[in-house]
Amino acid sequence: MFRRRDRIQYKTPEQIRKMRAAGLVVAEVHQAMRESAGPGVSTAELDRIAEDVIRGAGAVPSFKGYDIGFGPYPASICSSVNEQVVHAIPAKDAVLEPGDLLSVDVGAIVDGWHGDAAITIEIGEVAPELRALREACEASMWAGIRAAATSKRLGGISHAIEHAVEHSGDYGIVTGFGGHGIGTEMHQDPHILNYGRPGEGPKLRPGMALAIEPMITLGSPDTAELEDGWTIVTDDGSVAAHTEHTIALCEDGVWVLTAPDGGVAQLGELAASAARAE
Ligand code: MF3
Ligand code: CO
Repeated sequence: MFRRRDRIQYKTPEQIRKMRAAGLVVAEVHQAMRESAGPGVSTAELDRIAEDVIRGAGAVPSFKGYDIGFGPYPASICSSVNEQVVHAIPAKDAVLEPGDLLSVDVGAIVDGWHGDAAITIEIGEVAPELRALREACEASMWAGIRAAATSKRLGGISHAIEHAVEHSGDYGIVTGFGGHGIGTEMHQDPHILNYGRPGEGPKLRPGMALAIEPMITLGSPDTAELEDGWTIVTDDGSVAAHTEHTIALCEDGVWVLTAPDGGVAQLGELAASAARAE
């Protein structure tokens, strides 16, 4: 019987550089989404733009055709609006309106290596509590990423996310979903809860690549799945936010593979020299 940590795929520095190439494609898609998303735009249009950017970069969209046993996912992004938490399928009739909070999740494969990241975008002018929700989600993700540089075990990341969310306000931390290892597959061990205790879980070691992705709500942490078999919504209809980066643990710090600057601005001294050297 293998111990759980034995199923973690440890990457060489050269493999991490390949994952950086995939991460930069994801970052490019995020930039295109920020420029294109707005009132009157459908999420199907955003999906077409995203797929064009991915294929234009010579990469492959990892979500398209992704099958967890119930049939292939039909698009290149997940575009989750308001009470939709994650995994909402882009649609022609899902037209964005002022005041919406949109999460766009994107995955790309370059040379067999995956990048996976999500941003939450304000559509037009949003209510102050929605902006605060988005900011709390981003802050908790960065707290988790910083903890990846300073903690001994995976639980340190989970705990830092939870602590940051609680510090920001009265939000629900979605319980059914979390982050994950990533590499030659989009989803690998370990699973990363967005709450937990510092001493728990596998040891954090150089060569690990992790997708850190808090999902928080203005209300309940409970979720439900829609009949399409994909879309996850909040149980109570409250608005949710979702932010994600793929990171690599290097010998001398963390490299945020899906951030254009490698995470240097947010991490400072905690950033890997490979990130600072770019
Ligand atoms: N990035 C998402 C996650 O980590 C995966 C999207 S599922 C797909 O949960 F089906 F859309 F690919
Ligand atoms: Co992910």
